[in-house]
Amino acid sequence: MNNFVFCNPTRLVFGKGTIASIDKYIPSDSVVMMTYGGGSIKKNGVYDQVKRALGSRRVVEFGGIEPNPHYETLMRAVAEAKSAGVTYFLAVGGGSVIDGTKFITCAVGYDGEDPWDFVLNGSLTKNSRPLPLATVLTLPATGSEMNNGAVITRAERGEKLAFKHPDAYPKFSILDPEVCYSLPERQVANGVADTFVHIIEQYLTYPVGAMVQDRFSEGVLSTLVEIGPKVVKNHNDYDLVANYMFAATMGLNGIVAMGVPEDWATHMIGHELTALCGLDHGVTLSIVLPSLMSVMRKDKEAKLLQYAERVWGINSGDTDTRINEAIKATRSFFESLGIKTHLSDYGIGDDIIAEITSRMQQRGWKLGERGNIDFNVVKEILINAK
Ligand code: NZQ
Ligand code: ZN
Repeated sequence: MNNFVFCNPTRLVFGKGTIASIDKYIPSDSVVMMTYGGGSIKKNGVYDQVKRALGSRRVVEFGGIEPNPHYETLMRAVAEAKSAGVTYFLAVGGGSVIDGTKFITCAVGYDGEDPWDFVLNGSLTKNSRPLPLATVLTLPATGSEMNNGAVITRAERGEKLAFKHPDAYPKFSILDPEVCYSLPERQVANGVADTFVHIIEQYLTYPVGAMVQDRFSEGVLSTLVEIGPKVVKNHNDYDLVANYMFAATMGLNGIVAMGVPEDWATHMIGHELTALCGLDHGVTLSIVLPSLMSVMRKDKEAKLLQYAERVWGINSGDTDTRINEAIKATRSFFESLGIKTHLSDYGIGDDIIAEITSRMQQRGWKLGERGNIDFNVVKEILINAK
């Protein structure tokens, strides 16, 4: 097992009726900026519950944060937060609202010229002290409610990039499974796929003897296989959504990453497909992952065989047969959620493959757990995903 340091300071408040506990955790003299997306929270009653919980605190609302949050929108919130003297941020929404609000709180506390710099640099540690942030999660998927990362889109440049800040962990996150009842099927499918791929990015690399982490990952993956298609159709079944919600948070809060190598190439390639073609995040991952598994099969052989056996019960046949069956099972899983898994299903062809390849070449990125997925390998993965 590799060395590691683990610290996750986010308080999780999980269960029915927990939105009311916002009152307990946000200091009563705070000036709160409440951020949200396109309005789903006004239709499903979450907005009213949050406003009630905030009581007599001064609240500045900032709605309209779009999916794959745009830098241009967020910078308007930064200006409003500064002029209103906001001291606490409360993000009410899915990954986009939470990520966007992480950017806002870092940018408000940023002592530099253009906050896009800290996105471009990949990791922001200097010159920014984010103000406190809490979340009410409405779409289980990204794990953003319990991690310190965010992904921001700069629409005018067609770029979608991630950043992390050591102090961007939410102070607390409210996870009330009942808020999922209003989710469209498509978003539940995306959320299940995203969670599945988060675990895969931290598990399907090469063995380092991390037995507990492997079993934990396999436990979450097997749970998703069991409940994924059911929860897409039945997201007003409390126990199903509670397990889905918990799985999503565990998928990307650092727990399964302790002491193991990490990949993240599927995500990096997927972000380009969203930036250039507007595909949902979960969809991009469902297209890229089966292809990446196939192209990287030699490097990932030992873990692919373990995954085949422990997650899918595939334990007969030669190495190639078992790996092919595991890839087939993975693709069928995404398709059972209602997600199509080939680029051609979305009308994406050679021009986009060429554009992504050239961006990867310009950036000089070497992705994957071994840092050997360069632009040529990315091209091969995309061609194989046609
Ligand atoms: O905007 P509203 O009206 O709220 O509608 C949203 C949005 O249209 C809707 N929705 C959310 N909760 C709902 C609901 N509709 C009805 N009832 C509810 N309870 O769902 C739509 C999609 O929301 P969005 O937040 O965009 O989805 P998701 O949570 O999948 O977030 C995706 C973003 O997170 C990033 C992705 O790249 C993408 O930008 N990621 C962030 C990560 C992180 N911070 O660690 C890691 C992930 O890998 C991912 O990259
Ligand atoms: Zn993801």
